[in-house]
Amino acid sequence: MRKKIVAGNWKMNKTQAEALALASEVVNMVNDEVRGNVGVVLCVPALYLPILQKFTNLAPNVALGAQNCHNLAAGAFTGEISAPMLASMDVPYVLVGHSERRQYFHETNAQLAQKIDMALANGIIPIFCCGESLQQRQANDHFDFVTNQITESTFHLSPQDFGKIVFAYEPIWAIGTGLTASSAQAQEMHAVLRQHIAAKYGEDTADNATILYGGSCNEKNAAELFACPDVDGGLIGGASLKSREFANIIKAMVA
Ligand code: PGA
Repeated sequence: MRKKIVAGNWKMNKTQAEALALASEVVNMVNDEVRGNVGVVLCVPALYLPILQKFTNLAPNVALGAQNCHNLAAGAFTGEISAPMLASMDVPYVLVGHSERRQYFHETNAQLAQKIDMALANGIIPIFCCGESLQQRQANDHFDFVTNQITESTFHLSPQDFGKIVFAYEPIWAIGTGLTASSAQAQEMHAVLRQHIAAKYGEDTADNATILYGGSCNEKNAAELFACPDVDGGLIGGASLKSREFANIIKAMVA
């Protein structure tokens, strides 16, 4: 059974008081309003992971995620956080390869492969982000570009480990811009990614892979995107910072 997930990516937003309020509101709304089989992941600033656990512990369907981890286990890397550290704090998910990390911190497909290995070796589920720029789409290079991101960062894995990854297709031109991919564009790419996975790992693995859509997903467009047969949920940035809107998006996945 393919797992349905709606994940929020808070990025570098919220003070402590705001983070506590947002997490508590989301958990209450999920507990009160969401019936059905959807997992919710809150990818919050790492600093807040321990103080938010008291809320997520109250909601069986809500889990925490980090937004990044280093590709090595430990060492002289000032300011960084490792997968063993996250595991020691009982953090179940980590975003790997968000386009902002690729762009501003120059993360490469090869480094991201190491981050995925590191997360999996520590029992953490990587949410692997991929997606093309507007220029790549306009040059009709988007399918090759995104399938290659997946190949170079995940196709070294054993079938068993590969099956643990969650994928998030996020076209860069849609992130934070208000320009959402149409449901046809999202479905088309998700189907291509599933075929790509099937060619390497077989139909069953591809069928069971959870592939989220991200990029200006909001309470108005979520239902249409989530209705696509190959879209298994969303990775939500801006709209995850407002509890009411985020809860409505989660409910759109369930409906
Ligand atoms: P957005 O961000 O929903 O604000 O476009 C999505 C993301 O970056 O994960």
